Amino acid sequence: MQEKKTLNNKPIGIFDSGFGGLTVMSAVSKLMPNENIIYFGDTAHVPYGTKSKKIVTDFAVEISKFLISKDVKMIVIACNTASAFSLDYLKKIVNIPIIGVIKAGSVLSAQITKNKKIGVIGTEGTIKSKAYEKEIKKYDKNINCFSKACPLFVPLVEEGWCDGKITEDIIKVYIKDLLNKNIDTIILGCTHYPLLKKTIKKVIGDKINIVDSASAVALRVQTLLKEKCMLKKAGKGKYKFFVSDSPEKFKAIGNKFLGNKIQNVKKVK
Ligand code: DGL
Repeated sequence: MQEKKTLNNKPIGIFDSGFGGLTVMSAVSKLMPNENIIYFGDTAHVPYGTKSKKIVTDFAVEISKFLISKDVKMIVIACNTASAFSLDYLKKIVNIPIIGVIKAGSVLSAQITKNKKIGVIGTEGTIKSKAYEKEIKKYDKNINCFSKACPLFVPLVEEGWCDGKITEDIIKVYIKDLLNKNIDTIILGCTHYPLLKKTIKKVIGDKINIVDSASAVALRVQTLLKEKCMLKKAGKGKYKFFVSDSPEKFKAIGNKFLGNKIQNVKKVK
């Protein structure tokens, strides 16, 4: 009994290439306010979206080892690119539960599409990997997926340009082809895109469902912890933040994502 209590109180480890994964952390902490969380942002190596599978996997392995050294009870890969490239490998070498963000968003979108036409937007790495398409096809092979890499979205969000005419125009250019395919659901397959959600909605209208993988993955984390009897049931969750570079910048931008919850950020090698 004592042992289980201790295990439940261990933190959830969440990592991303930078601060974008705070959208996932925000969803997890809202759904499970009791949970302690350790967040790692690989700010020395961001962006992952333009890098190779090998290099992103090397980073993901190091970060997972770091989180395990902090005694986390499970790992959430908040980064879509790292989930697409490294989850399968990490599952083989990590002996605690580990999940990425791709499956949750894929299953949810497969469940809600009516005309079986889903659009996926993400970084170059995520789109090239076809990770979302593969997951969606596992669920229902009759669903058609149409993908589009949107490399300008991450810098737009990082600059704080989440709305306005320029952002709307850029979204229109990227999403035009998907709209021509008559999709009824679109997956925001990148940590940063939930911050563009309102503007994306303005561009695509009310008829297309927007699936934000951050909320979908939070639900999956909760289900998994419940199944394994590992939910922390009481007490307000405590948060710790680690980065590989520029803790001050992380704190400043990160607080926009997380609503001023970041007080202390430690830099680690
Ligand atoms: N975190 C990345 C993702 O979700 C976006 C930023 C990057 O390219 O590192 O794919």
